[in-house]
Amino acid sequence: MASRREFLSGSAAAGLGLGLGGFSTIGCTGSEGGGAGGEGLGSASVSQPEIPRAEKPLRILILGGTAFLGPAQVEYALARGHTVTLFNRGRTNPHLFPDVEKLVGDRAEPDYTALEGREWDAVIDNSANVASWLMDSTALLTESVGRYLFVSSISAHKDNSIIGMDENGPVFTKEEYDEAVASGAGMGATFGPNKAQAERETFQAFQDRGIVVRPGLIVGPRDNSGRFTYWPVRIDRGGEVMAPGDGTDRAQIVDVRDLSRFMVHLIEEEAKGTFNATGPESPLTMAGMLYGIRAVTSTPVTITWVDADFLREHEVGGWMEMPVWVYPEPETQGFSAYDCTKAIEAGLTFRPLAETARDTLDWWKSLPEEDQGLRTGIDPEKEADVLRAWHARNG
Ligand SMILES: NC(=O)c1ccc[n+]([C@@H]2O[C@H](COP(=O)([O-])OP(=O)(O)OC[C@H]3O[C@@H](n4cnc5c(N)ncnc54)[C@H](OP(=O)(O)O)[C@@H]3O)[C@@H](O)[C@H]2O)c1
Repeated sequence: MASRREFLSGSAAAGLGLGLGGFSTIGCTGSEGGGAGGEGLGSASVSQPEIPRAEKPLRILILGGTAFLGPAQVEYALARGHTVTLFNRGRTNPHLFPDVEKLVGDRAEPDYTALEGREWDAVIDNSANVASWLMDSTALLTESVGRYLFVSSISAHKDNSIIGMDENGPVFTKEEYDEAVASGAGMGATFGPNKAQAERETFQAFQDRGIVVRPGLIVGPRDNSGRFTYWPVRIDRGGEVMAPGDGTDRAQIVDVRDLSRFMVHLIEEEAKGTFNATGPESPLTMAGMLYGIRAVTSTPVTITWVDADFLREHEVGGWMEMPVWVYPEPETQGFSAYDCTKAIEAGLTFRPLAETARDTLDWWKSLPEEDQGLRTGIDPEKEADVLRAWHARNG
């Protein structure tokens, strides 16, 4: 189980995939990246409600665009009447969006030749989890692009002890970034410092034309990380579901489609500055989330809350085995309690949890069986063992 120190430093995230930045291995190793990766995982078609067209069509370049967040952005931007160009290596879900212009290049090389001599109204940079990638792309695009929206992460904040922290809360410093890079540590430990440094580089290069969005846990159709998907899938399987704590611990999630709409909206509105985009608008507890999910399934199910100390004794990991949830500690109490008022005032809206839960489950069920493995969530046998022990102890 990850120790508190590991969790906070992000080094546990490296090993366990805890970080708020997807599961992709983009960057450090130069290895195969891009989240969903495999054929089929990003191929489910996701229905969109009627979307009005924007008054002014824009030319939008998306760096990335084919794993999880990207496809939702592409779908929304196209529905608004914008023209979209994608830039990636052509490896992740290359079958997606056959009618959209695709430029090929590798940011790890770096090779941006395909972008040279071209102009766009705005860029959305999804794929920079490494600050140096963003330095290269902003250097190339400052003159040829109107706005630069960098997709950062709430992990750029270095202190999870503060409940209700807003955009002005402390982020990793330049010195901490330099140390992280020099340490040669993996993506988990360097993710937050890289995001914080990339944010500074965005504003350095684009100034008032720069936008930074810091999502918390992004959920919804096409998320194969399992970090939220586990719960709808597990609850739909039915029977006795083990749930962590007493139900009062906080949860923060944002539907990928709401986040995508918000990002395109910021570009259309020519916004500037930094926005924490964690959601939802009204505080959500683990009980609110799990009972909300239960409401969209018809399988008989009981939810048994097992207290945190008991889970710890039985080596059940927060976040990874009990997704969305972290052990309540003074150091982590702010983890799911970020303030996103500024984003809401700038236009971030949230669909009902029931819609997110139902669409996530429908998407997951539409996958071929071989792609239905979840990378997070407690093993069913371990869940049954811990529940047996819990009932034995409580008579
Ligand atoms: N998931 C979360 O809960 C969460 C939370 C907070 C922040 N975030 C951030 O959200 C962002 C979006 O992640 P996403 O994976 O869903 O975005 P995405 O744009 O859907 O997919 C990632 C894209 O990056 C491309 N890519 C990977 N390596 C590349 C390289 N070396 N050169 C060029 N392109 C490359 C991939 O295509 P190819 O493989 O074909 O190159 C793929 O199109 C990330 O910045 C992440 O840190 C995520």
